[in-house]
Amino acid sequence: MKNNYIIANWKMNPGTVREAGTLVTKIAKSVRTQKNATVVIAPPSIYLYSLQKILGKKIQLGAQDCHFESEGAHTGELSPRMLKNAGVSYVILGHSERRTGGETSLEVNSKIKAALKVGLVPIVCIGEQLRDATHQYLGFLETQIKETFVGIPLTSFSKIFIAYEPLWAIGAQATREATPEESTEMVIFIKRVLADMYTAKVAESVRFLYGGSVHPENAQLFLIHGGVHGLLVGRDSLNLKKFTKIIEITNGLN
Ligand code: PGA
Repeated sequence: MKNNYIIANWKMNPGTVREAGTLVTKIAKSVRTQKNATVVIAPPSIYLYSLQKILGKKIQLGAQDCHFESEGAHTGELSPRMLKNAGVSYVILGHSERRTGGETSLEVNSKIKAALKVGLVPIVCIGEQLRDATHQYLGFLETQIKETFVGIPLTSFSKIFIAYEPLWAIGAQATREATPEESTEMVIFIKRVLADMYTAKVAESVRFLYGGSVHPENAQLFLIHGGVHGLLVGRDSLNLKKFTKIIEITNGLN
Protein backbone atom coordinates (compact mmCIF):
# COMPACT_ATOMS: atom_id res chain seq x y z
CA MET A 1 0.00 0.00 0.00
CA LYS A 2 1.37 3.40 -0.97
CA ASN A 3 1.42 5.99 1.78
CA ASN A 4 1.08 9.54 0.50
CA TYR A 5 2.26 12.66 2.28
CA ILE A 6 0.17 15.79 2.50
CA ILE A 7 2.21 18.73 3.76
CA ALA A 8 0.50 21.98 4.74
CA ASN A 9 2.67 25.06 4.32
CA TRP A 10 0.80 27.71 6.26
CA LYS A 11 3.41 30.41 5.53
CA MET A 12 2.71 33.53 7.65
CA ASN A 13 -0.88 32.47 8.44
CA PRO A 14 -3.28 32.46 10.23
CA GLY A 15 -3.07 35.73 12.14
CA THR A 16 -3.51 34.43 15.70
CA VAL A 17 -2.57 31.34 17.70
CA ARG A 18 -6.24 30.91 18.55
CA GLU A 19 -7.18 30.62 14.86
CA ALA A 20 -4.28 28.21 14.31
CA GLY A 21 -5.48 26.08 17.23
CA THR A 22 -9.05 25.98 15.96
CA LEU A 23 -7.91 24.93 12.50
CA VAL A 24 -5.60 22.19 13.79
CA THR A 25 -8.28 20.85 16.14
CA LYS A 26 -10.74 20.59 13.25
CA ILE A 27 -8.20 18.99 10.90
CA ALA A 28 -7.20 16.53 13.66
CA LYS A 29 -10.83 15.57 14.13
CA SER A 30 -11.36 14.92 10.44
CA VAL A 31 -8.21 12.80 10.03
CA ARG A 32 -8.81 10.66 13.11
CA THR A 33 -9.80 7.59 11.13
CA GLN A 34 -7.67 7.99 8.04
CA LYS A 35 -4.85 5.54 7.46
CA ASN A 36 -3.13 6.05 4.16
CA ALA A 37 -1.96 9.63 4.32
CA THR A 38 0.72 11.17 6.50
CA VAL A 39 -0.40 14.70 7.30
CA VAL A 40 2.20 17.32 8.23
CA ILE A 41 1.34 20.88 9.23
CA ALA A 42 4.03 23.55 9.01
CA PRO A 43 2.69 26.60 10.89
CA PRO A 44 4.56 29.79 11.79
CA SER A 45 7.21 28.72 14.33
CA ILE A 46 5.74 30.79 17.12
CA TYR A 47 2.67 28.50 17.11
CA LEU A 48 4.62 25.21 17.25
CA TYR A 49 4.57 24.69 21.00
CA SER A 50 0.89 25.29 21.52
CA LEU A 51 -0.13 23.30 18.45
CA GLN A 52 2.01 20.38 19.51
CA LYS A 53 -0.32 19.85 22.46
CA ILE A 54 -3.48 19.53 20.38
CA LEU A 55 -2.24 17.74 17.26
CA GLY A 56 -3.53 14.27 18.04
CA LYS A 57 -1.76 11.17 16.78
CA LYS A 58 -2.40 11.56 13.08
CA ILE A 59 -0.76 14.90 12.41
CA GLN A 60 2.93 15.70 12.53
CA LEU A 61 4.59 19.08 12.84
CA GLY A 62 6.82 20.78 10.31
CA ALA A 63 8.81 24.01 10.42
CA GLN A 64 9.12 26.40 7.47
CA ASP A 65 12.88 26.96 7.80
CA CYS A 66 15.82 26.46 10.15
CA HIS A 67 19.34 27.78 10.64
CA PHE A 68 22.37 25.59 9.91
CA GLU A 69 24.10 26.17 13.26
CA SER A 70 22.95 24.47 16.44
CA GLU A 71 23.25 27.68 18.53
CA GLY A 72 25.06 30.98 18.60
CA ALA A 73 24.85 34.65 17.67
CA HIS A 74 22.17 34.45 14.97
CA THR A 75 19.47 36.96 15.81
CA GLY A 76 15.97 35.83 14.98
CA GLU A 77 16.96 32.32 13.91
CA LEU A 78 15.94 28.86 15.12
CA SER A 79 18.26 25.85 15.09
CA PRO A 80 17.24 22.35 13.95
CA ARG A 81 17.83 21.15 17.50
CA MET A 82 15.41 23.72 18.94
CA LEU A 83 12.78 22.67 16.43
CA LYS A 84 13.29 19.00 17.18
CA ASN A 85 12.97 19.84 20.85
CA ALA A 86 9.63 21.55 20.21
CA GLY A 87 8.21 18.34 18.71
CA VAL A 88 8.93 19.12 15.04
CA SER A 89 9.61 16.19 12.68
CA TYR A 90 9.88 17.87 9.25
CA VAL A 91 11.40 21.11 7.98
CA ILE A 92 10.66 22.87 4.69
CA LEU A 93 13.92 24.22 3.24
CA GLY A 94 14.65 26.44 0.25
CA HIS A 95 11.06 27.49 -0.35
CA SER A 96 10.91 29.79 -3.38
CA GLU A 97 9.65 32.66 -1.23
CA ARG A 98 12.88 32.39 0.77
CA ARG A 99 15.08 31.88 -2.30
CA THR A 100 13.48 34.97 -3.89
CA GLY A 101 14.36 36.84 -0.69
CA GLY A 102 18.04 36.00 -1.22
CA GLU A 103 18.57 32.52 0.20
CA THR A 104 21.14 30.68 -1.90
CA SER A 105 21.26 26.99 -2.81
CA LEU A 106 24.49 26.69 -0.83
CA GLU A 107 22.74 27.99 2.29
CA VAL A 108 19.92 25.52 1.69
CA ASN A 109 22.59 22.81 1.38
CA SER A 110 24.02 23.65 4.83
CA LYS A 111 20.53 23.65 6.31
CA ILE A 112 19.75 20.19 4.86
CA LYS A 113 22.92 18.78 6.42
CA ALA A 114 22.13 20.40 9.78
CA ALA A 115 18.52 19.17 9.75
CA LEU A 116 19.59 15.60 8.93
CA LYS A 117 22.07 15.64 11.81
CA VAL A 118 19.32 16.02 14.42
CA GLY A 119 16.88 13.71 12.63
CA LEU A 120 14.56 16.29 11.09
CA VAL A 121 13.18 15.25 7.69
CA PRO A 122 14.09 17.93 5.13
CA ILE A 123 11.46 18.89 2.55
CA VAL A 124 13.62 20.63 -0.02
CA CYS A 125 11.95 22.90 -2.57
CA ILE A 126 13.23 23.07 -6.14
CA GLY A 127 11.72 25.03 -9.00
CA GLU A 128 12.21 27.38 -11.89
CA GLN A 129 10.85 30.91 -12.13
CA LEU A 130 9.83 30.75 -15.77
CA ARG A 131 9.56 28.32 -18.64
CA ASP A 132 11.25 29.46 -21.84
CA ALA A 133 10.79 27.93 -25.29
CA THR A 134 14.49 27.07 -25.57
CA HIS A 135 14.48 25.07 -22.32
CA GLN A 136 17.07 27.18 -20.55
CA TYR A 137 15.12 26.58 -17.34
CA LEU A 138 16.46 23.03 -17.34
CA GLY A 139 20.01 24.39 -17.06
CA PHE A 140 18.89 26.67 -14.23
CA LEU A 141 17.33 23.72 -12.42
CA GLU A 142 20.37 21.53 -12.94
CA THR A 143 22.58 24.13 -11.24
CA GLN A 144 20.05 24.58 -8.45
CA ILE A 145 19.91 20.81 -7.82
CA LYS A 146 23.71 20.40 -7.95
CA GLU A 147 24.33 23.25 -5.49
CA THR A 148 21.47 22.28 -3.20
CA PHE A 149 22.45 18.62 -2.86
CA VAL A 150 26.25 18.72 -2.99
CA GLY A 151 28.01 16.59 -0.38
CA ILE A 152 24.93 15.03 1.21
CA PRO A 153 25.72 11.56 2.61
CA LEU A 154 24.42 8.94 0.18
CA THR A 155 22.39 7.09 2.78
CA SER A 156 20.58 10.31 3.76
CA PHE A 157 18.74 10.68 0.46
CA SER A 158 16.13 8.13 1.52
CA LYS A 159 15.18 10.53 4.34
CA ILE A 160 14.82 13.57 2.08
CA PHE A 161 11.73 14.83 0.27
CA ILE A 162 12.22 16.97 -2.81
CA ALA A 163 9.26 19.19 -3.57
CA TYR A 164 9.07 20.28 -7.20
CA GLU A 165 7.42 23.69 -7.03
CA PRO A 166 7.52 25.75 -10.24
CA LEU A 167 7.32 29.40 -9.22
CA TRP A 168 4.95 30.22 -12.08
CA ALA A 169 2.36 27.84 -10.60
CA ILE A 170 2.57 28.99 -6.95
CA GLY A 171 0.19 31.29 -5.12
CA ALA A 172 -2.54 33.69 -6.16
CA GLN A 173 -0.28 35.27 -8.81
CA ALA A 174 0.32 31.95 -10.65
CA THR A 175 0.30 32.35 -14.43
CA ARG A 176 -1.21 28.88 -14.89
CA GLU A 177 -1.40 25.51 -13.16
CA ALA A 178 1.22 22.87 -13.87
CA THR A 179 0.03 19.54 -15.24
CA PRO A 180 0.70 16.13 -13.68
CA GLU A 181 2.70 15.29 -16.82
CA GLU A 182 4.96 18.29 -16.22
CA SER A 183 5.42 17.13 -12.63
CA THR A 184 6.39 13.62 -13.80
CA GLU A 185 8.84 15.04 -16.36
CA MET A 186 10.52 17.17 -13.72
CA VAL A 187 10.74 14.31 -11.22
CA ILE A 188 12.51 12.28 -13.93
CA PHE A 189 14.78 15.25 -14.69
CA ILE A 190 15.70 15.78 -11.01
CA LYS A 191 16.40 12.06 -10.62
CA ARG A 192 18.65 12.15 -13.69
CA VAL A 193 20.70 15.02 -12.26
CA LEU A 194 20.99 13.22 -8.90
CA ALA A 195 21.96 9.98 -10.66
CA ASP A 196 24.73 11.89 -12.48
CA MET A 197 25.92 13.41 -9.20
CA TYR A 198 25.67 10.18 -7.22
CA THR A 199 24.13 6.89 -8.39
CA ALA A 200 20.80 5.79 -9.87
CA LYS A 201 20.11 3.99 -6.60
CA VAL A 202 20.55 7.21 -4.63
CA ALA A 203 18.23 9.05 -7.04
CA GLU A 204 15.59 6.35 -6.67
CA SER A 205 15.73 6.51 -2.88
CA VAL A 206 14.45 10.11 -2.75
CA ARG A 207 10.74 10.80 -2.23
CA PHE A 208 9.08 13.53 -4.28
CA LEU A 209 6.26 15.99 -3.70
CA TYR A 210 4.47 18.32 -6.06
CA GLY A 211 3.54 21.82 -4.91
CA GLY A 212 1.96 24.85 -6.57
CA SER A 213 -1.80 25.57 -6.66
CA VAL A 214 -2.79 22.14 -5.38
CA HIS A 215 -6.54 22.00 -4.73
CA PRO A 216 -9.19 19.28 -4.27
CA GLU A 217 -9.86 19.12 -8.02
CA ASN A 218 -6.28 18.41 -9.09
CA ALA A 219 -4.89 16.57 -6.02
CA GLN A 220 -5.84 13.11 -7.23
CA LEU A 221 -4.40 13.73 -10.71
CA PHE A 222 -1.04 14.78 -9.26
CA LEU A 223 -0.98 11.83 -6.85
CA ILE A 224 -1.76 9.30 -9.58
CA HIS A 225 -0.03 10.81 -12.61
CA GLY A 226 2.49 13.29 -11.15
CA GLY A 227 5.22 10.79 -10.27
CA VAL A 228 5.17 11.90 -6.62
CA HIS A 229 4.65 10.53 -3.11
CA GLY A 230 2.60 13.46 -1.95
CA LEU A 231 1.68 17.13 -2.15
CA LEU A 232 2.84 20.41 -0.64
CA VAL A 233 -0.23 22.58 -0.20
CA GLY A 234 -0.18 26.34 0.41
CA ARG A 235 -3.43 28.33 0.24
CA ASP A 236 -5.81 25.39 0.38
CA SER A 237 -4.18 24.04 3.55
CA LEU A 238 -5.68 27.03 5.40
CA ASN A 239 -9.16 26.23 4.18
CA LEU A 240 -10.59 23.49 6.40
CA LYS A 241 -13.07 22.18 3.84
CA LYS A 242 -10.60 22.07 0.96
CA PHE A 243 -7.70 20.69 2.98
CA THR A 244 -9.73 17.89 4.56
CA LYS A 245 -11.09 17.08 1.08
CA ILE A 246 -7.51 16.74 -0.22
CA ILE A 247 -6.71 14.38 2.68
CA GLU A 248 -9.90 12.39 2.05
CA ILE A 249 -9.02 12.02 -1.64
CA THR A 250 -5.52 10.88 -0.71
CA ASN A 251 -6.84 8.41 1.79
CA GLY A 252 -9.25 6.93 -0.73
CA LEU A 253 -6.57 6.33 -3.35
CA ASN A 254 -5.10 3.11 -2.12
P1 PGA B 1 0.03 27.40 -3.16
O1 PGA B 1 1.47 27.45 -2.46
O2 PGA B 1 -0.55 26.04 -2.90
O3 PGA B 1 -0.75 28.50 -2.50
O4 PGA B 1 0.25 27.66 -4.62
C1 PGA B 1 2.34 26.35 -2.50
C2 PGA B 1 3.66 26.68 -1.85
O5 PGA B 1 4.12 27.83 -1.95
O6 PGA B 1 4.27 25.79 -1.22
